[in-house]
Amino acid sequence: MRVVIVSDYDSASKKAASIIAKEIRSKPNAILGLATGSTPLGTYKELIRMHKKENLDFSRVRTFNLDEYYGLAPNHPQSYHRFMEENLFSKVNIKAANVHIPDGLTKDVGAFCRRYEEKIRRSGGIDIQLLGIGRDGHLGFNEPGSSLGSRTRLKTLTEETVRDNARFFSKTEDVPRLAITMGVGTILDARKLILIATGEAKAEAVRASIEGSVTAQVTASALQLHPSVICVLDEAASQLLTKRDYYKYVEKIAESVESEARI
Ligand code: F6R
Repeated sequence: MRVVIVSDYDSASKKAASIIAKEIRSKPNAILGLATGSTPLGTYKELIRMHKKENLDFSRVRTFNLDEYYGLAPNHPQSYHRFMEENLFSKVNIKAANVHIPDGLTKDVGAFCRRYEEKIRRSGGIDIQLLGIGRDGHLGFNEPGSSLGSRTRLKTLTEETVRDNARFFSKTEDVPRLAITMGVGTILDARKLILIATGEAKAEAVRASIEGSVTAQVTASALQLHPSVICVLDEAASQLLTKRDYYKYVEKIAESVESEARI
């Protein structure tokens, strides 16, 4: 697991965007796994800038989103469909047919989730999955207790997640209690994972995920089982990591090896 610690949210966003852009430039038909929430906003802003100013081309990119609230229509202002449209898709040259987000209005959840998994598999699998982390250590909406082998399915949100997400709704009672989410197993199938975590509120979840035991009680701890993970953290989110200085040292060494290799 690579742990990259940068000064602040902007640097974390730029770092994550540069990793995603590199993937798209080396594989123009890359399959991206995408997340919503406050965390990836800066990354999407930077990807849009790269599209406009540096010809980053999304015309062959395909995407699969992690999750969607159950019961919200795609045009609901708080749906993740709307979030993605407003914060990324409408501002780059991605084709609507190449975008996949769970359907919050599906009548047959089980069949829908099986088809979602099948579509990911048929597309060749996710090349790079972007992730945020909940304060309870969730990935997607895989709340504590989710099986580390779980697949796309309906999950009940914890009270803490409902409260955390209430900031996007006019009142807490409006926050859906259920969501369709990729499972932890689905996420672990992606070839590469990037987790972004910033701010002090995420420090404990980050510590438990990176340096704690692997447990279904902190689903992001399953990242420890994946061979290709980059955790991009700001100083505040990394403050409880006991090996923080070592992670910084590793990155410094890696940089010097890379620059020597370039000479
Ligand atoms: C959203 C998602 C969630 C968020 C997490 C953090 O698609 O998968 O796991 O990444 O709840 O949310 P923010 O970024 O708003 O703190």
